[in-house]
Amino acid sequence: MSGLEKIKELIDKREQAKLGGGPKRIDSQHAKGKMTARERIDMLLDEGSFEEYDMFVTHRCTHFGMESQQVLSDGVITGHGTIDGRIVFVFSQDFTVFGGALSETFAQKICKVMDQAMKVGAPVIGINDSGGARIQEGVNSLAGYAEIFERNILASGVVPQISAIFGPCAGGAVYSPALTDAIIMSETNSYMFVTGPKVTKTVTGEDISVENLGGPLVHGRKSGVAHFIARDEEEGLMLIRKLLSYLPSNNLEEAPVVENLDPSDRICDYLNDVIPESSNQPYDVKDVIHELVDNHEFFEMHRNYAQNIVVGFGRFNGASVGIVANQPSHMAGVLDIDASKKAGRFVRFCDCFNVPILTLVDVPGFLPGSAQEFGGIITNGAKLLYAYGEATVPKVTVTLRKSYGGAHDVMSCKQLRGDINYAWPSAEIAVMGARGAIEILEGKALMEIKDPDERKRYFDLKEKEYREKFANPYEAARFGYIDDVIEPRNTRFRIVRAFQTLSTKKDSNPPKKHGNIPL
Ligand code: HXC
Repeated sequence: MSGLEKIKELIDKREQAKLGGGPKRIDSQHAKGKMTARERIDMLLDEGSFEEYDMFVTHRCTHFGMESQQVLSDGVITGHGTIDGRIVFVFSQDFTVFGGALSETFAQKICKVMDQAMKVGAPVIGINDSGGARIQEGVNSLAGYAEIFERNILASGVVPQISAIFGPCAGGAVYSPALTDAIIMSETNSYMFVTGPKVTKTVTGEDISVENLGGPLVHGRKSGVAHFIARDEEEGLMLIRKLLSYLPSNNLEEAPVVENLDPSDRICDYLNDVIPESSNQPYDVKDVIHELVDNHEFFEMHRNYAQNIVVGFGRFNGASVGIVANQPSHMAGVLDIDASKKAGRFVRFCDCFNVPILTLVDVPGFLPGSAQEFGGIITNGAKLLYAYGEATVPKVTVTLRKSYGGAHDVMSCKQLRGDINYAWPSAEIAVMGARGAIEILEGKALMEIKDPDERKRYFDLKEKEYREKFANPYEAARFGYIDDVIEPRNTRFRIVRAFQTLSTKKDSNPPKKHGNIPL
């Protein structure tokens, strides 16, 4: 073969590899409204930046006549490229080849990019669209999954790992995305479950559709498995780019600082009026967040799950900050099991990637009741407590209104190494709400008053006394638990200055193998 012929052979092989499972299956993929594995990578990465590895890999299986069914790339496209000029590693499962099912060599390709990402210190993005273990390969496929899981685990907290689900993701295959930092599902075509509807029906008798068992609505709202639900694949890929813009490439770096034209000392007059007259009236804490952050831009995670707490990223003077805020407009912002899990995971996400945390507090307490107690609010509430107490990134807390009882301690209080703790004049920081406190403290005295009107008068008087004494920020400020009581309109400026002051903060935890977070 001449040199030119050899080059032509290479070009032909490349073209062949690019066809994956062939034009018919590509058409079928498009007909479902799905992109191909390569089209997804092209849309995700900066234009022309993709460098592919292992295009010529083929499987080694000889069972079920597989030796005659060889497809170049073997069903997964891998390599690296850039997002906003920063290196990322990527794998994208190709449903047109054996339904994107995972073989031994398929797994090896994924492991190769994960290993390189760890050496280089760059994020890994996995695009999932697969029928699971390649049935013909048997245990080699299971071993391949486990190789990937182990790498997911070792990479956790070292490089950001993001998973997109743009098709099936079922059986044990779900555990690779589950081990990553964020899962994005597209509204169409995506589903995730450990056990599908057919087996579910056989084992439990429950009749349930694919969508109702593991569709995006289920995982976005009920289970909390998915952090983002995208309208379509394109939006999903753009969400990945955006999420990465708030994160460093690895745990030894800081998140990129972007140019900021929004004045740091912007006065937010709106905030002086945002708290309603009655402390039981709701307001939307997202209005507060939008007012505070640069350019009013807030990138919310887990939007539809545990809406009584809000988490997401914003910037202050160009620097990335993770924001956790109780949401008074949903269940009065109470902490429950789901909210504790959601916020606990977010706090740890920020902490492992050196993203400072702003906490906005308006929490009446923990949600009472047998459902919560039986569900383990003790263990789950402790997750959030643990996450805040262990976090060493700069932590700024602003108490907007209520901060009662155990929930006060949990929400980044001073003693959990909160660095700078501010409160608005509307803050109520106390061991419990006035009504509950008076019922306990004055219970006996109230029982002795026979006349109901007289009893109510006495109750109201005591409640008023309690509120005046304790339902304010000054009692906590008197002990130095609050560093300053600030005017709401100045809050943006105070937060910017607080984070600037803390930007050189150094803090660490005692040496240990790892803690034993109440999982
Ligand atoms: C080999 C597979 C496959 C698999 C699909 N294909 N899944 N080949 N192993 N797991 C092939 C099909 O034979 C078909 O080949 C092509 O991919 C497209 O599949 P279709 O069924 O035509 O597509 P669709 O109707 O869209 O259905 C997609 C699907 C279905 C829902 C994913 O294919 C399916 O149920 N697959 C099996 C899923 C499964 O049980 N996987 C193993 C689970 S066990 P042709 O040549 O006809 O185009 C597991 C354990 C993991 O995953 C444990 C990890 C720890």
